[in-house]
Amino acid sequence: MSADDIADAYADVADKLARWRHLDRLFAGRYRRHQFADADGRVLDVACGTGRNFRYLSNAREVVGIDISADMLTHARDELDRLGLDGSVHQMDAQALDFADDSFDTVISSFSTCTFPDPVAALHEMERVCDPDGEILLLEHRRSDAAPLAWLQDWRAESHYEKNGCRLNHEPVATVQRAGFSVENVSPAFFSLISTIDATPR
Ligand SMILES: C[S@@+](CC[C@H](N)C(=O)[O-])C[C@H]1O[C@@H](n2cnc3c(N)ncnc32)[C@H](O)[C@@H]1O
Repeated sequence: MSADDIADAYADVADKLARWRHLDRLFAGRYRRHQFADADGRVLDVACGTGRNFRYLSNAREVVGIDISADMLTHARDELDRLGLDGSVHQMDAQALDFADDSFDTVISSFSTCTFPDPVAALHEMERVCDPDGEILLLEHRRSDAAPLAWLQDWRAESHYEKNGCRLNHEPVATVQRAGFSVENVSPAFFSLISTIDATPR
């Protein structure tokens, strides 16, 4: 799917995803908190969606969110206002970020490399805009180590991608390594369906 197709797919579900934020908090909240609570300085949330990470960014001096979908960003903007955070959201392609080199202290992204048409290009952009002493923190879903779950993911992968633009059985650690980052910490969780990944820019 192209970036435009993916934007269309998320436009269709943006309101529903925003309504489901309490459910997300229940299942993913603890992983978001674990991975992002220490993000500090000027923080960029790449593919921020409806802004589900924002509530865990209390250490950020400024929160900047970008997403390809204007509909998702409407909810992200509401979330920034609701939380009273200093920040802004912008419609932008993760594969061509409109920010200067080294302009963020921390770059975060969640459940996103599964949707980017070219995830390695997006990771290189995250690296470009991140200060060389900064951090890139990811939270991703992944192909489970549990055989029955992996089988289900493989079985549904193609139809799920065609409908939602999301690769259900992708391997985010391999993608991050393909981008040339060194991977510092990988913690599989929730039946190894999700992983937190700390990556250091090259
Ligand atoms: C599964 S959602 C995750 C949203 C949010 N990060 C979260 O954790 O709830 C994937 C998001 O990636 C965005 N996205 C997909 N391709 C993109 C691209 N090329 N550039 C920017 N955002 C993109 C979608 O619009 C969607 O909001």
